[in-house]
Amino acid sequence: MPLFNVYPLYDVTPVKAKGVYVYDENKTEYLDLYGGHAVISIGHAHPKYVEAVTKQVTKLGFYSNAIQNPLQKQLADRIETLSGCTNYELFLCNSGAEANENALKLASFKTEKKRVIAFKNGFHGRTSAAVAATDNKNIIAPINAQQEVTILDLNDIDGVKKELEKGDVCAVIVEFIQGVGGLDEATADFFEQVDALCKANNTLFIADEVQSGYGRSGKFFAFQHYNVTPDIISIAKGMGNGFPIGGILIHPSIEAKFGMLGTTFGGNHLACAAGLSVLNVIEEQNLIDNVNEMSAYFIKIAKTIPQIKNIKGRGLMLGLEFDFEVGDLRKKLIYDYHIFTGGAANKKLLRILPPLTVRKDHINQFFEALIDALNN
Ligand SMILES: Cc1ncc(COP(=O)(O)O)c(C=O)c1O
Repeated sequence: MPLFNVYPLYDVTPVKAKGVYVYDENKTEYLDLYGGHAVISIGHAHPKYVEAVTKQVTKLGFYSNAIQNPLQKQLADRIETLSGCTNYELFLCNSGAEANENALKLASFKTEKKRVIAFKNGFHGRTSAAVAATDNKNIIAPINAQQEVTILDLNDIDGVKKELEKGDVCAVIVEFIQGVGGLDEATADFFEQVDALCKANNTLFIADEVQSGYGRSGKFFAFQHYNVTPDIISIAKGMGNGFPIGGILIHPSIEAKFGMLGTTFGGNHLACAAGLSVLNVIEEQNLIDNVNEMSAYFIKIAKTIPQIKNIKGRGLMLGLEFDFEVGDLRKKLIYDYHIFTGGAANKKLLRILPPLTVRKDHINQFFEALIDALNN
């Protein structure tokens, strides 16, 4: 049976990975500055992660959400401690889109309204409400287009005010650093005013931290660079270091009711074991400090390269903007220098999303290759 052909693929077949490196079937080593799209947080095959997942699967990999699962509570407590978000409750699911879908659904339940405000170049996933809030017409099917969504420009605070005052908006959803779109950020003033406007208009403020969360921005959550209090925070990618897990942190002003949300696989034992070991490693190895240190090191070198016109993003969610489209450069980096990087909707942007364990020697390896590729 052929595979449904939706992905343009690079001709590389990884069979093994360790730390910041991935290996193909010929044992060729690739430096992974893409992290499988910002998923690999604590490094590939981290021994503590492998041990935790292996131990759990030999005991109990899965049982349904109809029984007690203390691992879910342990995970919630650890997220609370590491993130400093002390006033939230946790619902677990399996992916980023599902996290945002549940967040939007809760906002609609809570406010009894249904229009959503989202932003230009934003990406929130491919399920129905999440994709409708995504600024990409090519991935919105007619069935999704039934959702009521208004897309505004980042920083258009007058537009947000005007729309919220109409009284029918259940949620404003935002990426504090846009991922797929190309690492744009609104101003602190904008984020803080949106937060206040949401609170004044019975609208929930949803922080999509699917990509920017779990330390990648240099703080546990990217919204923590600002003085805002989201009502719902969605998480996924870095949470399981590759094990599919997502979730939402929910402000307790939103009251839970039996059956309001639910999932078969979400929060299963194996996912929780993976999630717990990720948080343990982030804490034990001080990975958020490493993010800030490596980010500063990376940016310092990037600034010395004349072909780089702009450096975007924060922490280890970075973008290098050129005055040409980077498709060929990415191919050259993969095939000639064995380095994975990311692309974005902004075709002139090279995205850098390494495991949070990346070191200076990896960054040096990248820049040596990049300078060579740019000049030859
Ligand atoms: C900010 C953001 N939200 C949501 C998603 C969707 O996550 P998933 O692919 O796990 O459904 C992504 C994926 O790239 C993302 O970057």
